[in-house]
Amino acid sequence: MEHMIIGSSVRHYEEVGSTNDLALELAAAGAAEGTVVRADAQTAGRGRIGRSWNSGRGKGLYLTVILRPRLEPAALGLLSLAAGEAVRCALASVCGLEGRIKWPNDVLVSGRKIAGVLMESRTGSSGVEYIVLGIGINTDWELADREGDFRVPPTGISLETDAPAQTELLFTGLLAELDRIYRDICSGRTGGLVADVSSALDRQGRSATLSLPDRRVSGILEGITPDGGLILATESGQEIFHSGELDYEKKS
Ligand code: BTN
Repeated sequence: MEHMIIGSSVRHYEEVGSTNDLALELAAAGAAEGTVVRADAQTAGRGRIGRSWNSGRGKGLYLTVILRPRLEPAALGLLSLAAGEAVRCALASVCGLEGRIKWPNDVLVSGRKIAGVLMESRTGSSGVEYIVLGIGINTDWELADREGDFRVPPTGISLETDAPAQTELLFTGLLAELDRIYRDICSGRTGGLVADVSSALDRQGRSATLSLPDRRVSGILEGITPDGGLILATESGQEIFHSGELDYEKKS
């Protein structure tokens, strides 16, 4: 991992509660930018909006990256997009899988969720002090693993490729992709990321509903803005969102 920011130091554990929780602790204690916390299993894996993340041994790649970006607040939303895009690129190059991005950073293969991202930040008096980007990718799954109460139907690499997931290659490929995209963002070259995510954006031109804490907004999913916001054409005109969870309307 020489010369890379992401993965400059990798801490690999057999089992932790949550790699995000451990990364937050390490970052608070001064861990360097690019430090990666990886675990073979998590006993308290966390998903977005308070959900849990199934984290059994052999079933997934679970990792969190510590970042200390010196970016304008508007560029921070791009980091969340970057993680999903890095996963999409690594799945393509290592596993030959074509992924789509469900805004902002879920990765879907054949319409099923194969990876998710949980980005968390801590701010101080001078702005964002550090960010942790937690990534979970479903690897060696059996059909029975798809059963359960999932908001988006899930899948795993082995189910999509009919072969064991090459988890170690995927790990190094993912770090390389994230390193490339992160360097671009930090040096202001964000156009490529936005263009790549736009062309892989799932449900573009189709109807979608965004759940916000206080309301649900439906419209046609038109694309993303240069800072990674979601553009929805609603009854009251074009609206841009920087947070929320997309629920696809089943009829579309
Ligand atoms: C989501 O789609 O809801 C986000 C899932 C994020 C899961 C990963 S697994 C590694 C890291 N540690 C956690 O506790 N969560 C993230």
